[in-house]
Amino acid sequence: MKKVYLETYGCQMNVSDSERVSSVLKSDGYEITESEEEAEIVLINTCSVREKAEQKLYTRVGQIRKESGNDKKVGVLGCVAQLEGETLFSQNRGIDFIVGTKAVGRISSAIDASFKGEKDFIDLGERENEYDWSVDKDYRHSKYIAFVPIIEGCNKFCTYCIVPFSRGREISLAPAQIIRQVLTLRREGVREVHLIGQNVNSYRPKSTEGLEDFHGATPFSRLLRAVAATGIERIKFNTSFPRDFHPDIVDAINENENLCNWVHLPVQSGSNSVLRAMRRGHTIESYFERIDKIRESPRRIALTTDIIVGFPGEAIEDFEDTKAAVQYCEYDSAYIFRYSPRPGTPAFERADDVSFEEKTRRFLELESLQKINQQNALESYLGRKVKVLVEKNSTRNIDELSGHSTCHKVVNFKGSSEMLGKIVEVKISEAKSFTLYGEIC
Ligand code: 5AD
Ligand code: SF4
Repeated sequence: MKKVYLETYGCQMNVSDSERVSSVLKSDGYEITESEEEAEIVLINTCSVREKAEQKLYTRVGQIRKESGNDKKVGVLGCVAQLEGETLFSQNRGIDFIVGTKAVGRISSAIDASFKGEKDFIDLGERENEYDWSVDKDYRHSKYIAFVPIIEGCNKFCTYCIVPFSRGREISLAPAQIIRQVLTLRREGVREVHLIGQNVNSYRPKSTEGLEDFHGATPFSRLLRAVAATGIERIKFNTSFPRDFHPDIVDAINENENLCNWVHLPVQSGSNSVLRAMRRGHTIESYFERIDKIRESPRRIALTTDIIVGFPGEAIEDFEDTKAAVQYCEYDSAYIFRYSPRPGTPAFERADDVSFEEKTRRFLELESLQKINQQNALESYLGRKVKVLVEKNSTRNIDELSGHSTCHKVVNFKGSSEMLGKIVEVKISEAKSFTLYGEIC
């Protein structure tokens, strides 16, 4: 049995692809190892969303070749593979084969070809029609939580973003297939599913078979209600795109307890002129309308976001608008990024005119503002009870367990390993460093 070591960078879609790569390799007779040293094959599932993520690939290939000479086969998967294609071979002689984002189901053929001596093997082809989206339970990132892709690709072409080029056009999975998968996961003991896609609320399947019995203003909100009806205990979903975020999604959350009270809604900027230049298709006012609807929910929905600072042409007044938006939305947490020009995107054609130092200054300023919001949001849970899925022993203390609440906060509390996989109620007594602490009630 040949041993494969697989490492994954980037978003949930990449993690999810890697889970399926491991499943396919297992059924084709490979062993997945945790030890890079033992492996005969190293696979790197890459991310290209920002330059830094992309550079990781080159650093890692260099390290692998330095440590093990030419003993191992090195395969590159994911977004960098798809975008760079065969130019990767000439840029980096340490790479043996390349498998694009849609070709991951054929990973075994790529490895075979490489072992048979085929040099510079590359597969950037389309996904097989009968592609199996399920994951072997041994290779899910968690025993109790499963990612379920519902839409892949992106048609939005925000001007800074490489994803529409690396992941291609939006393709929605059939509702019946998604529901079948969730039912199987539930039978296997999974307690929480994450419906994932670059842009879940653009979900638009070719056929609505499986959604007939469910109301909802959009196919996505009907899908949410259909998945809720499977009886799986918790459902989370991301990422949402503001323009397509229909208020009915909030109604679906209000009507179904197992739809978790957490929405990730990337704003990217608070300035209408920057939003226009990013071609986001929303104004800050229309974004705030979505936020108001979310905040009106009796379920107290947690809200998180992504923000880019230093987009080309972002003047200090634009940045002030972003600060104002962060204050208005009082996010539970925010991922803040410095703009990184990506070759091939429309924004790459514009001068990257906010200096790195200024981007960093804006990043730090926004981060410290957001830290206060985050701490306030955490403190608002003091004395309250939250339902936590017990995922693992905490890294700090062996008597402590750790999991996420329905509102997607990390919660640590005292307890023993028998509780792993259970959903418990925890009364919150402390809120610090991005984490809630409490006791089981
Ligand atoms: N530069 C910086 N951040 C980016 N993101 C996407 N593309 C870029 C880029 N070129 C961020 C966005 C997106 C998140 C996943 O990554 O905020 O929502
Ligand atoms: Fe990128 Fe915009 Fe698509 Fe999100 S919606 S993946 S930011 S192009």
